[in-house]
Amino acid sequence: MTDIFEPARLGPLTLRNRTIKAATFEGMTKGALVTDDLIEFHRAHAAGGVAMTTVAYCAVAPDGRTEYDQIHWRPEAMPGLRRLTDAVHAEGAAASAQIGHAGPVANGRSNGVPGIAPSKSFNPMSMQMTRAATRADIERVTKAHANAALMAIEAGFDAVEIHLGHNYFASSFLSPKINKRTDEYGGSLANRAKVALAPAPSARPSATASRSSPS
Ligand SMILES: Cc1cc2nc3c(=O)[nH]c(=O)nc-3n(C[C@H](O)[C@H](O)[C@H](O)COP(=O)(O)O)c2cc1C
Repeated sequence: MTDIFEPARLGPLTLRNRTIKAATFEGMTKGALVTDDLIEFHRAHAAGGVAMTTVAYCAVAPDGRTEYDQIHWRPEAMPGLRRLTDAVHAEGAAASAQIGHAGPVANGRSNGVPGIAPSKSFNPMSMQMTRAATRADIERVTKAHANAALMAIEAGFDAVEIHLGHNYFASSFLSPKINKRTDEYGGSLANRAKVALAPAPSARPSATASRSSPS
């Protein structure tokens, strides 16, 4: 039987045990920045023994936020994220960043732009109609994921978790109920999966660097 307290391999990472703190947006990101409260929240989980803690939903672009005060990847957010990963590593745990774009359920009102969806649809989160994503939108959001992953590495994260649920951008394309497109991103499952499976566009070499265990 698997022992939950035994170390485990996760891709290139060695985790000290088999417990991972899941992403649960805590609302501790006033100004869309890491706060001391958020650092203490994750430090405490690390001190409590989890192998890896996940920093909840960090939007790859400002229009992908579900709340205005939600971290989105930009230079101003980097010092706080670095302080957070340092605090987690000091307790011997690894840190993961959850990245994604909320697409159809982004908060179009507080973001100031309507959410983007595979097809025009009603967004119950902001009580607005969304806009059907253009090919340029899909390319922008895909590249923003790659950029966010690179920034996460720079901020000291050991892993990134791509948000692929909750009707967010990538998962909404998978759903035939939401995705009514007639182009190469709609119809068959293979077409609907293209956003979720999009290869990272021209990642810099540093993007492949990873530590074998948290420092
Ligand atoms: C307050 C709250 C915030 C959450 N935020 C996120 C989030 O940012 N990203 C995410 O993927 N899931 C989020 N979730 C879902 C939790 O991660 C999910 O409930 C957790 O994985 C536990 O799953 P379980 O209830 O099936 O065990 C959130 C849940 C709650 C209650």
